[in-house]
Amino acid sequence: MLLEVKNLSIYYYTLTGVVKGAEGVSFSIDRGEWVTFVGESGSGKSTVAHAIMNIVPSPGRIVSGEVVFQDRDLLKLSKEELREIRGKEISMIFQDPMTSLDPLRKVGDQVIEVMTVHGIPEEEARERAKELLEKVNLPPDRLDYYPHQLSGGQRQRISIAMAMAFNPKLLIADEPTTALDVIVQDSIMDLIEALKAEGTSIYFVTHDISLAAERSDKIAVMYAGKLVEFGTVEQILENPLHPYTKALIEAVPDLWKEGKVRAIPGYPPDLRNPPSGCRFHPRCPLAKAGLCDAEEPEFEEVEKGHYVACHFPGGWRG
Ligand SMILES: Nc1ncnc2c1ncn2[C@@H]1O[C@H](COP(=O)(O)OP(=O)(O)OP(=O)(O)O)[C@@H](O)[C@H]1O
Ligand SMILES: [Mg+2]
Repeated sequence: MLLEVKNLSIYYYTLTGVVKGAEGVSFSIDRGEWVTFVGESGSGKSTVAHAIMNIVPSPGRIVSGEVVFQDRDLLKLSKEELREIRGKEISMIFQDPMTSLDPLRKVGDQVIEVMTVHGIPEEEARERAKELLEKVNLPPDRLDYYPHQLSGGQRQRISIAMAMAFNPKLLIADEPTTALDVIVQDSIMDLIEALKAEGTSIYFVTHDISLAAERSDKIAVMYAGKLVEFGTVEQILENPLHPYTKALIEAVPDLWKEGKVRAIPGYPPDLRNPPSGCRFHPRCPLAKAGLCDAEEPEFEEVEKGHYVACHFPGGWRG
């Protein structure tokens, strides 16, 4: 197993209360496996992604859990040890490439720096930077541009080039294509897929479960800071067990046989004060008073590799 996340919880200590951004999240990613995280806005997909890299921004704090990457708990490493791993063994593409690019420096210097901080000589890094740009379909002269001279899609390709500098073992891609048109989106998905073909594991985040279906091996469904279902793409799409997963699938027209689009009624909860018991119970058609609002369901394996946290998994079937 490349990555094992165990019982990970992250809280944000804000002035108006403690936001339980993610709680008790456990899953694993095998070598060369693509796992896509889906769930409504605010469900904790980015929080978990940042926690894996141990870069949860203030006022957030990892309050419990382990992130075991190649048999080492990343949360126990020193800053120096983490620096060795970040950018080389684990790299990240952010939703907005401007968060990872310095607006005041030429992109070439930034691509080169990813390599020189890990000990590659400057000249060699410069050559390699040109090759990387070619790989992401950008002419090498773009190395002399500043980030603002490039389009959004080009900037995103630069950040992918940076992420590819070392053939990372794990790539975390947090909604890397949301701001881009469909053609550019496809080309970026192709680049991520090419990395996977070379053995990189992928933690991918999207709102769009249909985008998840196309390329990934597994799907992880988050709701209100909890991982509620995890399994292969087939298990999740053909045999969803959590009512929230079923609702997400029904909200996509193409995926649902009858072609009906049904929005999920209600709103995700305020994570300063999440609902008791199962966090989905106020919106759940199956919720049973005295159970679902009182007892938190365990996250359990119900068939090989298929996990769900629900008192009535698949319960709509009667
Ligand atoms: N810096 C922060 N300060 C306070 N609360 C935060 C902060 N960042 C995230 N949160 C809260 O943590 C919860 C999880 O947020 P997160 O950003 O992980 O969700 P997400 O699933 O990535 O959502 P999106 O799809 O909108 O990117 C939300 O309730 C959010 O309001
Ligand atoms: Mg996010």
